[in-house]
Amino acid sequence: MRVLYVSTEVHPALKTGGLADVNAALPAALAHAGADVRLLLPAFPALKAAAEPTGTAVGVKCPPAAGTVEFLPCRLGGIAGWLVDAPALYARPGNPYVGPDGSDWPDNARRFATLGWAAARFADGGIGHWRADIVHCHDWHAALAPAYLRARGGALPGTVFTIHNLGFQGSFPPDQFAGLGLPAHFFAMHGVEFHGSLNFMKAGIHYADRVTTVSPTYAQEIQTVAHGFGMDGLLRSRAGALTGILNGVDTAAWNPARDAALPAPFAPGLLEGKAVCRERLRAEFGLARAPGGPLIGVVSRLTAQKGLDLLLDALPAVLAIGGQIVMLGSGEPALEARWADAARTHPGTVAVRQGYDEALAHRIFGGADMVAVPSRFEPCGLTQMYGLLYGALPLARRTGGLADTVRDATAAARAAGRANGFLFEAASADDLAAALHRAGALWREPAAWRLVQDVGMRERFGWADAASRYMDVYRDLRPAA
Ligand code: ADP
Ligand code: GLC
Repeated sequence: MRVLYVSTEVHPALKTGGLADVNAALPAALAHAGADVRLLLPAFPALKAAAEPTGTAVGVKCPPAAGTVEFLPCRLGGIAGWLVDAPALYARPGNPYVGPDGSDWPDNARRFATLGWAAARFADGGIGHWRADIVHCHDWHAALAPAYLRARGGALPGTVFTIHNLGFQGSFPPDQFAGLGLPAHFFAMHGVEFHGSLNFMKAGIHYADRVTTVSPTYAQEIQTVAHGFGMDGLLRSRAGALTGILNGVDTAAWNPARDAALPAPFAPGLLEGKAVCRERLRAEFGLARAPGGPLIGVVSRLTAQKGLDLLLDALPAVLAIGGQIVMLGSGEPALEARWADAARTHPGTVAVRQGYDEALAHRIFGGADMVAVPSRFEPCGLTQMYGLLYGALPLARRTGGLADTVRDATAAARAAGRANGFLFEAASADDLAAALHRAGALWREPAAWRLVQDVGMRERFGWADAASRYMDVYRDLRPAA
């Protein structure tokens, strides 16, 4: 089964969020499950620097790039593939989607149409002498590949489009369609048009043979008005082709027993190291020692999606249970300012580090007693899984992948040995505060707390399960490959 895996970011070379973690682990898991996986990514400077060239570049004229693109054969993170080089579009350091001022690059439609075009052009084997059975595209950036393939016609590979976040759709003014080299009739309701705009996400959902998303609950939620971002009707119409496959955790990178970023290792049942991590984290952030309640960690983008404004609104409940917060994140300036304010108002109790810091993220999961993920929506979410494995009980909203990975510490779930964290229902500070009070009560019963923690630390979120589910999707499309 030859799978062309088309995306934009790969940890550790280039990461803006969980997509990079997925792309660093899923291709290897697919290879392990028997697929011949090849990566196709834009030649962003960070990816180019990390890739090991393996052959000679091949240049091809590319209409959406309004010039030539080069396919650079390489290996990246141990996986073979090609970088699509078009310096006028991709030779920009930093975040792959936005410029230094934080706003989208004005030519994003052209930049990511070029990626989709390149995938479609490459898949037939004419360029790299490797023909794809399946083209697997991730998020809106790669979503035009199935449209370009459909436009080409003839014997085509199967196409799979994975939605990692329906909130980012790649929507552009209609006049940007003209330069992309797609047939004019594709700009239609049954095509790439969405309420008068050009919409990459829509194209992926419409043209791909199969659509997947990153948790079973999110696969249901996106078919509702509340979570569909306007695409719910289209997604309902494609329900028969839509599956939710839960992401895994790369345990080579996320294992508290072998994590070089932690001051001390620990494991289920062996928690002395975790106590060291907690005290070091408190010291690093100038938090009071022995506060009487749990240390709550947050590692997150600061956007409305993540609901961290709710945690600020519920701060009185954190204080009431003797809790502390360490927050590592960056994003919307208004949220950054509110968090900075909270840290100023509550020194020794609330500590904030703005920015992006991979090693500190590990230290936070290692040292925290809880990890807060109060998301308004969460396609999968990885930090609650990292928290679970690192003995930090998730405090999460029951939505998307959070609902699929966190089991609330009700009396019944605890008695059954299933509880691994705390869930709340509504996206409100009141519901979050109520869950905090329940956490505070459990904290006062250390033995009961440790049981819940132990359940979490022993969870298995290996990528093998997800890979075998993706293989089923591929085989369903190409039984003979
Ligand atoms: P999303 O992709 O929506 O941001 P996920 O939970 O899937 O959410 O993935 C987020 C990833 O980014 C995790 O690996 C998390 O540890 C990491 N992360 C988020 N913010 C930061 C930060 N400020 N510093 C370091 N890592 C971060
Ligand atoms: C997106 C989602 C997140 C998911 C990640 C990887 O960024 O917001 O929930 O875990 O993709 O699939």
